[in-house]
Amino acid sequence: MRTEVAIIGAGPSGLLLSHLLAHDGVESVVLETRSREYVESRIRAGILESSTVELFDAVGLGERLHREGSEHRGIYLQWPHERHHLDFLDLAGRSVWLYGQSEVQKDLGRAREAAGQEIHYEVSDTEVHDPGSDRPYVTYRDAEGNDSRVDADVIVGCDGSFGPSRAAVPDSARRTWERSYPHSWLGILADVAPSTDELIYAWHPDGFALHSMRTAHVSRFYLQVAPGTDLADWSDDRIWEALATRLGHGQDGWQLDPGPITDRSVLPMRSFVMEPMRYGRLFLAGDAAHIVPPTGAKGLNLAMADVALLAPALAALLRKKDPALADSYSDRALRRVWRCTHFSWWMTTMLHAGPDPFDTQLQLSQLRWVAGSRAGATGLAENYAGLPIG
Ligand code: FAD
Ligand code: DHB
Repeated sequence: MRTEVAIIGAGPSGLLLSHLLAHDGVESVVLETRSREYVESRIRAGILESSTVELFDAVGLGERLHREGSEHRGIYLQWPHERHHLDFLDLAGRSVWLYGQSEVQKDLGRAREAAGQEIHYEVSDTEVHDPGSDRPYVTYRDAEGNDSRVDADVIVGCDGSFGPSRAAVPDSARRTWERSYPHSWLGILADVAPSTDELIYAWHPDGFALHSMRTAHVSRFYLQVAPGTDLADWSDDRIWEALATRLGHGQDGWQLDPGPITDRSVLPMRSFVMEPMRYGRLFLAGDAAHIVPPTGAKGLNLAMADVALLAPALAALLRKKDPALADSYSDRALRRVWRCTHFSWWMTTMLHAGPDPFDTQLQLSQLRWVAGSRAGATGLAENYAGLPIG
């Protein structure tokens, strides 16, 4: 088959790209290894920057988000015996929205289905061919086991950190940067009302803890754990005890309410950037090109910002034969990528406990400065609430 843009991956970046391209009258085909049910139930990000919300509103995707999501003015930053609220609206003029990535994925899936988007789920052996030529194509095996091929003007790799697109760029044509961290997160979902109105980011000598949420009845929590942690070593009681200690149960009368745990996983943390985010007629977007540790809530927002730049660039290239925006896509996207890479590294190193007592004193001093100085608080607020797209 032939299309204008072959998109590999039906995660949030791949589906939003197909949506934005369709708005500009550009045709695409999406290939995805997993089933639709699987991608729509994957529990991942929870925070949307205001520019992501504005983008969804502008392209008709914001209705359920505004009805079922909730706007947060800021976050709480805490360490033992102190909790401070940072009000992003007051500090930076922008808020964030709490809306699960699984809900974003469902909204995108429904919108693309209603528009008749061609999406092939449960494909295997996806391979990118001849990205450096003007006749690139993708081969794959479809859900019924038939070998298939899509010829396209352009291929976009939206296939996340483990997909094949990144590897289709020759080593000689790319540069990569990487940082691994000596921490992982143990994430849980629990059927219990949140014990807080906005997210709590807590430094503690036992390790970082984050209290997030999904709905009025479902809470989301993360605990810093050692890399290689076995979930079997963390009973429900141990998880709730660690959360109570690190989040300050009993401090100034604050209570953490436990509840039944419905999902749990361990997530490694790393930073990764690949430059450029393009090779010939292959473009990369989202986690396929860059990964951030989750502490700054940036991964999903960066993926959305990439495709917001890429869609008009591809429309200009394919509709008007004007390559200027496509040629500058990688440089423009990477400016934001590096800002978020720095912010995510900064939040991670400020909030995760380590063995060095000197580092501990620096972390506590930095936390006091961020929470106590308007300049410090504004720096965090501007980065967390996010820069305008463009
Ligand atoms: P993905 O969502 O990874 O989608 C890639 C898609 O490509 C997948 O559906 C995959 O199945 C498919 N694919 C892979 N290989 C192939 C192949 N060979 N052929 C076809 N398809 C393929 N970000 C935030 O902004 N805020 C947060 O609060 C936040 N919290 C997070 C919490 C957790 C627990 C995790 C794990 C991540 C979090 N993130 C957060 C990061 C965010 O989830 C990712 O950055 C985001 O999913 C990236 O979207 P994407 O579309 O680029 O990639
Ligand atoms: C969530 C995840 C994050 O990484 C974060 O910084 C804030 C919230 C969440 O899943 O709700």
